[in-house]
Amino acid sequence: MIRKWWQDAIIYQLYLRSFKDSNNDGIGDFQGVISKLDYLSDLGVNAVWISPHYESPMDDNGYDISDFYKVSKDYGTIEDVKELIEKAHKLNIKIIFDLVLNHTSDEMDWFVAAKDPNHKEHEKYHDYYIWQPPKYNEQGDRIMPTQWRSWFGGPVWEYNEPTNEYYLHIFSKKMPDLNWRNEDMKADLKKMTKWWIDLGVDGFRVDASNHIEKNWDFPEGHPGYENFSSIPKHHEYLEEMGKEVFIPNDVFTMGESGGASQEEAIKYCGFNNEEFDMLIHFGHCWADGDWDNKITPGKWAKGKIDVKHIKYSFDKWFKMLKGEGWNIIYWHNHDQPRILSHYGNDSEYYNESGKMLAYTLYFMPGTPIVYQGEEIGMTNVDYKELNDFRDVEVFTEYKNFMNQGATHEVAMQALRDRSRDNARSPFQWDSSVNGGFSQVTPWMNTVKNYKEINLEKQKNDPKSLFNTYKSIFKLRKEESINNGDITFIDIDNEDSYTYINETDKSKFLVVANFRNVKIALSLDINIENYKNIYYNYNIRELTNYIELKPYEALVYKLDK
Ligand code: GLC
Ligand code: CA
Repeated sequence: MIRKWWQDAIIYQLYLRSFKDSNNDGIGDFQGVISKLDYLSDLGVNAVWISPHYESPMDDNGYDISDFYKVSKDYGTIEDVKELIEKAHKLNIKIIFDLVLNHTSDEMDWFVAAKDPNHKEHEKYHDYYIWQPPKYNEQGDRIMPTQWRSWFGGPVWEYNEPTNEYYLHIFSKKMPDLNWRNEDMKADLKKMTKWWIDLGVDGFRVDASNHIEKNWDFPEGHPGYENFSSIPKHHEYLEEMGKEVFIPNDVFTMGESGGASQEEAIKYCGFNNEEFDMLIHFGHCWADGDWDNKITPGKWAKGKIDVKHIKYSFDKWFKMLKGEGWNIIYWHNHDQPRILSHYGNDSEYYNESGKMLAYTLYFMPGTPIVYQGEEIGMTNVDYKELNDFRDVEVFTEYKNFMNQGATHEVAMQALRDRSRDNARSPFQWDSSVNGGFSQVTPWMNTVKNYKEINLEKQKNDPKSLFNTYKSIFKLRKEESINNGDITFIDIDNEDSYTYINETDKSKFLVVANFRNVKIALSLDINIENYKNIYYNYNIRELTNYIELKPYEALVYKLDK
C-alpha cells in the first residue's frame, strides 16, 4: 500500500477548552491555539486532534452538540477555524476534528422537533432518535423500558411526557442517541461531515464509534452495556461512512472503541478495510482498577498496577495488526487521569517516573498521540471541593459513591485520583497567574503546582521532561521508530517493561522498572554493542544482570 502521512506522524491531542485563552474570558479558544502553533511545531508534532468545537450547551464539554455547522462562541468563529487550518498547514501540521455521530445535544433542533408532537417537523425528526414506550409494574406505576445503565452512571432512559415515551441516552440525559437505522438521519450526518471536509479539515477522530448500533429488542440488562456496544451491525454503518465520505475525500480517520478481536480490529483499521485508518482502544488504560470494590467500584478504585496487563494489551494489538493495519500508541486522553499521577509517581519520583513513562511508550512502534500537558508532566488536579470539578460524570458518580457507603473524603479522593477532570485542567504555560493560561479565573481551576511545573521552566533545561519528549520525537522521525517491529522481553515479569523495537537502521532496547521499589532483572539476550542513549538516573553500561532503582529506565541503541 502507498504510505500515508499519518503513518509517520506524531499526533497531539489538544483539549481546546483548556489549552490557551486568547481573550481572557477564562476559556481556551481557537485564537489561543493559533498563538501556540509555533510551540506545537517546535515540539515536533505533525497533526493536532482538537476536542469538539461545535455549538453546544456544554453539558459534556462539547460532546453534546446543538449545531453541527456552528463554532461554539466560547471558541471563536468559522473565520478562526479557517485561519487555524491555513496557518497550521503552513507549518505542515494537519488539523483533525472530533466528529460526534452517536448522539446530539437535546437542544439540537432535530431533538426539539423529535420530542414535541406539535412541532411541524415532528414526524420527520422523531425517528432520528431512539424511543421506547414505558413499562408498568404490578402497582401500575410507570417504569423504564429496561434497567440499562449509562456510561456516566445513571439510567439510559429519560421520560418525555408529551409523547409518553422514553428516549435512550447512553451518556448524559442531555445527549440523546441517534438512530442509525434512519436513512435521512444518516444522510444528514454525511452531508455535515462533507461540509467540514470542504472547509479544509484533514481528518476526524470519530467519537464513541462502537456504540452507534443498539439492540432494538431492548432486552432487560443491568448494566446492559452489551446492548449498545460493539454490536456487529455498527461496522456496516462505519463502512458506509468510509465508502461514501471518508475514502473518496481522502481524509484521515481514527475511531474509538473499547476492545476488539483480531477480526474486528482488521475491520476497523486494516489497510484494505473501508472503515477507519487507525483505532483508539483502551486495553492498557485501566490496569489498576478494582472491580470488587463496592463503594467506588471499577476504574474509581485504585488497585495495584498490573504491568503485565499493559504489556499484553500493547503486544496483542501489535500482533493483531502486524502487516495488516496500523497501530496507535498513547498513554491516555481526556477521559483518563494524568499518566504521571496514574502509572507514575507525581510526588517522590516525579522526574524519574515521568521519563520512564516517556521511554516505555515512545520507543514502541505505531503512531503516537501525545496528550496536552503530558509533555510537561502535568499532574492530576488538587481540588478540595466538589464544585471545583466540572465533569457531568463526576456529579452522578459522587452521588453513587455516597449511596454505596463512601464518606465525603473517600469520594473526593476517588475523584482526584480517577475522574476525567484530572486531564482537563488548564495548560501550565508559565509561572504567571493561572499558569499563563488566562488572566481571569479559568473555567476550571489551574492546578496549584503550576509555579513548579510549567513549560517556561522546562524549555531551557536540557534535562526536563519537555526536552526529553522533544528529543525522542525528533529521534522517532529520524529513525522511523513508528515503523519498527517490537518484541517484548520477559513479558510475564510483573514489575518491568522491557522490549526491543527493531527499525531498518537500528535496534532500540528499553529496560524499565514500573515500580517504586528496586528490582533486579536477568536479560536473556545478546547485549553486545548496545549504547545507552537515554537514562533517568545515570548513564549505564548494559549488563545481563541488572538492578534497577525505583522507576529506573534506560534506552539502548544498537546500530545494525
Ligand atoms: C467519548 C469521549 C468522551 C465523551 C463521550 C460522549 O468517549 O471521549 O469524552 O464524554 O464519548 O461523547
Ligand atoms: Ca477565550
